Amino acid sequence: MGKVCLEAIDLCKTYIVEGNSNNVLQNINLKIEEGEFVSIMGPSGSGKSTLLYTISGMDSMTAGKVIFDGEDISGMKEKELTRLRLLKMGFIFQQMYMMKKLCIIDNIVLPGYQAKLVSREEVNRHAEDLMRRLGIIDTAEREITEVSGGQLQRACLARALINSPRVLFADEPTGALNSKASSEVLNELIKANEAGSTILMVTHSEKVAASSDRIIYLVDGDIQGELKLGKVTVKSDKTDPREELQKRERKLRQWLDEMGW
Ligand SMILES: Nc1ncnc2c1ncn2[C@@H]1O[C@H](COP(=O)(O)OP(=O)(O)OP(=O)(O)O)[C@@H](O)[C@H]1O
Ligand SMILES: [Mg+2]
Repeated sequence: MGKVCLEAIDLCKTYIVEGNSNNVLQNINLKIEEGEFVSIMGPSGSGKSTLLYTISGMDSMTAGKVIFDGEDISGMKEKELTRLRLLKMGFIFQQMYMMKKLCIIDNIVLPGYQAKLVSREEVNRHAEDLMRRLGIIDTAEREITEVSGGQLQRACLARALINSPRVLFADEPTGALNSKASSEVLNELIKANEAGSTILMVTHSEKVAASSDRIIYLVDGDIQGELKLGKVTVKSDKTDPREELQKRERKLRQWLDEMGW
């Protein structure tokens, strides 16, 4: 087993609504290795987004611990956590926290300027590269209310990748996208993973999940099973990469059937 970079230990999350408590996550134990690309699947309401929010420190947990890159983030002060987020984490969430007063490219470069890891010129170049590859370079100067949902989602991905994060957390990153835009996003995720970012992603898409190393199946806030597919091995000389992807998709579909998907 490789180095563990993210670990949840007996992670619990309970919501209390009108006096009734709802145990949304029940003693989740999960280890993510450095360089892994992990998908979380499961029915609507099973706690996938909640798991992503609590394990990334975006939301508080009710009990348990989370170790990120060797540090216990469960008791961390907000200021410390904010710094950790900026430098080592990337986020693509369903509610997208884009700044309404800034245009698309200014939103994307902002975490880069704040982190000060490289010069502003380099941040700008990186942002333009990402936007070009994601097919949204034409939207650079637009207000965030002047682009489509899918364009905004891809802008969020560009922003999440601007500091080349250690871990990228993504909640249905292809949710609002057609198949072309969806494969552009998937390709960018694979590229980020190859460049060293660990990825934890929630997805409903079998096609997207089939490209990840491991799939975790959540039901009622409990991990009910996991499927290990390993890295996609594209041997250009031998097999057709599409053939391998189809094989992975078939394997995933069969497993999901067994899980009751
Ligand atoms: N802020 C909240 N307050 C109270 N209950 C919540 C809150 N957020 C989520 N829940 C409840 O927790 C449960 C899990 O929600 P969550 O959003 O994690 O599901 P999900 O698996 O991501 O679903 P989907 O696939 O529909 O996005 C649901 O029953 C939901 O109603
Ligand atoms: Mg969700």
